[in-house]
Amino acid sequence: MYKEIIINNIDEMNVFAKKVGKTLFPGYLLCLEGDLGAGKTTLTKFLGASMGITDMINSPTFTIMKIYEGEIDLNHMDVYRLNGIGMDYDLEEYVYGDGVCVIEWYKHIIESLPEEKLIIEIEIIDEFKRLLKIEGSGKYEEIVEKISN
Ligand SMILES: Nc1ncnc2c1ncn2[C@@H]1O[C@H](COP(=O)(O)OP(=O)(O)OP(=O)(O)O)[C@@H](O)[C@H]1O
Ligand SMILES: [Mg+2]
Repeated sequence: MYKEIIINNIDEMNVFAKKVGKTLFPGYLLCLEGDLGAGKTTLTKFLGASMGITDMINSPTFTIMKIYEGEIDLNHMDVYRLNGIGMDYDLEEYVYGDGVCVIEWYKHIIESLPEEKLIIEIEIIDEFKRLLKIEGSGKYEEIVEKISN
């Protein structure tokens, strides 16, 4: 399943994140792609808030992963620095674990990721406007439908 939607401003990104938040389950895998400043971390912050996580979520670029404990844990990864290095074994445990896993720059470790995942590519249209390209297979097919309506 593949859908595209336009997000006109940051408030609409928040609304979108809340929709995604309603579809979460343990083991959920959300893969994000998009240029620097596209909004990957911003989307993750809004998603964390929708999960009831009150800790400040910021970019984990220099730590690769941060874990936020909640009713379901949020494992937030930024694997930008793993390009060409491959997957860290410790990370795999979280990708296949029972938290919600959000991966910024997932293409850098794509060989190590399961087939079934939700992919959101964020394209910058202008300062506030974004094009979201949303793709999902298997159990994520109907989720693509839900979050793009
Ligand atoms: N519609 C929007 N959705 C998301 N962010 C937006 C939007 N409009 C403006 N922004 C701004 O764009 C910036 C996005 O930065 P963010 O850190 O989320 O990007 P990123 O994709 O995680 O970048 P990086 O690759 O460096 O990790 C923020 O300053 C945010 O306020
Ligand atoms: Mg980021």
